[in-house]
Amino acid sequence: MSNPPHRLAVIPGDGIGPEVTAGALAVLDAAEQRFGFTTERTTVPLGAEHYLQTGELLTDEVVATLREHEAILFGAIGDPRVVPGVLERGVILALRREMRQAINLRPVRLYPGVPTPIAGLTPERCDLVVVRENTEGAYVGSGSTVHRGTPAAVAAQESLTTWYATERAVDYAFRLAQQRRGSVTLCHKTNVLVEAGRLWLDVMEAVGSRYPDVETDYVHVDAMCMHLPVSPERFDVVVTDNLFGDIVTDLGAVVQGGLGVAASGNLNLDGTAPSMFEPIHGSAPDIAGRGWANPAGAVLSLALALSALGEGVAAAAVEAAAASVLAELPALSGPAMGATTTEVTERVVARLGQVDPAGAGLPSSLMEQVAAVARG
Ligand code: IPM
Ligand code: MN
Repeated sequence: MSNPPHRLAVIPGDGIGPEVTAGALAVLDAAEQRFGFTTERTTVPLGAEHYLQTGELLTDEVVATLREHEAILFGAIGDPRVVPGVLERGVILALRREMRQAINLRPVRLYPGVPTPIAGLTPERCDLVVVRENTEGAYVGSGSTVHRGTPAAVAAQESLTTWYATERAVDYAFRLAQQRRGSVTLCHKTNVLVEAGRLWLDVMEAVGSRYPDVETDYVHVDAMCMHLPVSPERFDVVVTDNLFGDIVTDLGAVVQGGLGVAASGNLNLDGTAPSMFEPIHGSAPDIAGRGWANPAGAVLSLALALSALGEGVAAAAVEAAAASVLAELPALSGPAMGATTTEVTERVVARLGQVDPAGAGLPSSLMEQVAAVARG
């Protein structure tokens, strides 16, 4: 008897979101055929267009619908007609919080043949994963302003750090490191943010004692911005606070060839709600509708989704197919990409029928590692 379908919610969103999501879904169709699993998909309208038409952000009803699914594929949201912060806080951050997506998994890997702005960097030297705490820190949205609009204005913006959320993220980092090269680096700013920093260090020590086989290291976030581009080989798994993780992974995306290829997984670790997978790039309204968006970020996010769903072999094949097509593109987005979003997608689909997931020539099998941690 065949397995029941995976229940997938799809949030295409705005701008290039629907374009790259269509690419990911076409690759998913092909993966289902080749690897013999099925999905049941629900499209959920969230984003600027939906907000402008209905005034709704993330409603209780949508939260309930999403909870009936095993995973969420998210395109991108955002539109110049909506005041900055409304959709970010009201949809993306609300989803991460409501779905208890404890960590944001952001691989920084340079695929063979992909151009990087870092001279001399090779794929072997650039294969790390950032585990970003995804629910708190400066993102809790706690604070207040008085005397706004006057020279006496005062803004307080709090950053909260709990043992609970920190331990959850750090423990995941150690489990992932066990599947990889066995090293976890904490990235923080303990010399200035002494209170939160001490909590992170205490958690690292407590959790680390449970994983004696994993080595630990510490790097300040400013120094990380120096080391990541020039010596990424120093890092295997990097665990960090929400805001530092946001910043450092944009840098990581540039190192690995640009926002067009960077993927992420917002992982729920307690099974109470679905995980959500999204390309790191935004909705890019300026290039929407032109076929210039690279679907790779969305396709690689689909690969992460498949590994988290336990379809490790299909995930590795999707990653390998996307990587092999990326190696052929003269540029990673825009008209210089030399192929449209649909053409790149078609090439990935065709390649999926040819790749050997085990022999994809990638420095490590990230998808198998993520699947192994998901299995527990
Ligand atoms: C990201 C984005 C979001 C973040 C924004 C859109 C809220 O920059 O996913 O990295 O800051 O986390
Ligand atoms: Mn960001």
